[in-house]
Amino acid sequence: MQMSKRKFIKCSLLTPMLVLSACKLNFIDKNFNKKTLTTKFLGENMPFELPALPYARNALAPHISENTLNYHYGKHHQAYVTNLNNLITGTDLAKKSLEEIIKISANDKTKIGIFNNSAQVWNHTFYWHSMKPNGGGKPTGSTLQKIEKDFGSYENFVSEFKNAGATQFGSGWAWLVLEGDILKIVKTGNAETPLTTNAKPLMTMDVWEHAYYLDFQNARPTYIDTFLNHLVNWDFVIENMKK
Ligand SMILES: [Fe+2]
Repeated sequence: MQMSKRKFIKCSLLTPMLVLSACKLNFIDKNFNKKTLTTKFLGENMPFELPALPYARNALAPHISENTLNYHYGKHHQAYVTNLNNLITGTDLAKKSLEEIIKISANDKTKIGIFNNSAQVWNHTFYWHSMKPNGGGKPTGSTLQKIEKDFGSYENFVSEFKNAGATQFGSGWAWLVLEGDILKIVKTGNAETPLTTNAKPLMTMDVWEHAYYLDFQNARPTYIDTFLNHLVNWDFVIENMKK
């Protein structure tokens, strides 16, 4: 996922506009992972940066408030980025992409802090893109057909997704994933992520209390309803299914 040093040099030194445009399109516009998650494409040893939100901090209101985004994105997500940089600076991992760090640290008990922070950086960026202003509701076209094929009906999908979010004990995530060619819903605890499995993540909902407490207090089910009815970014699901 990381932009190679040779490619960076090519993009940096070749001046014709067409070449620059091609390079930009290749690593900025075409791929979510490269665009938003791998922030080290400017150099192998540069620290990670907090990826930009795909919308303004007040854009999800009234469903998720600017206040929540200020804390959740501005404080929590930023803290995971800062912690990760502090943990990997001066180590071999500083040369790796975010996805590589997650996979390397996933089954290494000596790297639990690195796993937790790197996975939380990735999960949160994926979560921001899983929502959009005026999102949610029933998808259309081939996405709806696929849901109806794999879950029996859209209503069954909603029921299963709600159940995953509501029954994740403590902190964690509910995910729509593609396992093989089948849509499935999974839940993960704390920082765990489908990235370490064979399933392809399509969208996620954060059910850590910090995701909803300022707006919904302890009413996690209401937050889940709001996520499904007003926030899900089905365009993002479609993009991920095509990859
Ligand atoms: Fe969170």
